[in-house]
Amino acid sequence: MTTLRVPGDKSISHRALMLAALGRGTSRVRGLLRSADVRSTAGVLRALGAAIPDLDATELVIAGVGLRGLRAPTIALDCGNSGTTTRLMAGVVAGAGISARFEGDASLSARPMRRIAAPLEAMGARVDLPAHGGLPMTVQGGALRGITWHAEIASAQVKSAILLAGLVANVPVEVHEPAATRDHTERMLRARGVDVRVEGLDVVLLPSARLEAGDMDVPGDPSSAAFFAGLAALGGTAAVSMENVGVNPGRTGAFQVLRRMGAMVRFEGVMEQGGEPVATVVAGPGVLRGTRITPDEVPSLIDELPLLACVAARAEGETRVTGAGELRVKESDRIAAVVANLRAIGAEAEELPDGFVVRGSDRPLAGRVITHGDHRIAMAFGVLGAVAGNAITLDDPSCVDVSYPTFWDDLARVRLG
Ligand code: S3P
Repeated sequence: MTTLRVPGDKSISHRALMLAALGRGTSRVRGLLRSADVRSTAGVLRALGAAIPDLDATELVIAGVGLRGLRAPTIALDCGNSGTTTRLMAGVVAGAGISARFEGDASLSARPMRRIAAPLEAMGARVDLPAHGGLPMTVQGGALRGITWHAEIASAQVKSAILLAGLVANVPVEVHEPAATRDHTERMLRARGVDVRVEGLDVVLLPSARLEAGDMDVPGDPSSAAFFAGLAALGGTAAVSMENVGVNPGRTGAFQVLRRMGAMVRFEGVMEQGGEPVATVVAGPGVLRGTRITPDEVPSLIDELPLLACVAARAEGETRVTGAGELRVKESDRIAAVVANLRAIGAEAEELPDGFVVRGSDRPLAGRVITHGDHRIAMAFGVLGAVAGNAITLDDPSCVDVSYPTFWDDLARVRLG
């Protein structure tokens, strides 16, 4: 059995920095993901006057400025490649009543921001977007009013932007989601004394004069662990055991799908850590069959679909994914990128408007993958390339720095042969 410790959860790391910065008093954060995206959040918070220390320390000690302590930045907020930084911090800036300009790299600048501009404007903020609806975006906060928002898209980033705007502006907000999405913001706010109630698909945040400081042990990222569960499923490593991985039900869909496809995946020693369930995730090979991934499953595995597509290329029969149109507006158009790259290496795949179909085979796969600078495309095809008999090269392996800077070292260590 190979053991591995995957880096801290990206979603939780962003939120841990934001909530520590906005808290009253000192928060300690351990296990933070040190990646380009999280560095973008740290940089944005610093530009708004929060004292975020160097992220390389084992334990970050963060003195919060409080819900009303942020100041208007004198420079544009550089969000790099990070959608989570942009959308959640837009909510914070709107609530804080300050004005800021958000910028990002070419990929982020093309991603849709109207989904957060609309609710923030309904609350009374002003959001200026270019005609294409991406970045640069200027958010001008003000005295916001509470809202009830019926979200058309299942998006934890949209939900979190609204919750954070309500929190910082001290007004009630209610978000109705079309499908349940990851609930890290709700859990972390509750752990810091905020009244957040969840009933079915409704989330309600009531005004709260302050946010308590809170210590946090960030669990390992299930989205990173999924790559090694996929590698083990494909027989590219012996069984792999990954300690301290977050197993929040909003994030574990890929493990269930791998199990359904015939792989061995189990959670051992499930326990609660800082309001989040964590476990040792153990994964091993099996005889893989194609499966159908349904729209209701998509939010719990949205970031893992490139990996599942690569695993499907080696499974018997067809794998069909629908209801995943959101993949077209991630760091790249992941439907187009997955299908084009699978074809480029000799696999059979086709696009659907809101998903894809992959027909598996056991013939060797070889060729060059175009990542479009998308970390999850790089890692998914990196896994497929680590399986014996395949020969896959990537145009830009370094783009994994966005979420998993040590991915290639870990892959080299655990792969067979
Ligand atoms: C995230 C939510 C998801 C996910 C992203 C991280 C978050 O995005 O794809 O990687 O931390 O809230 P959407 O909210 O756009 O679905």
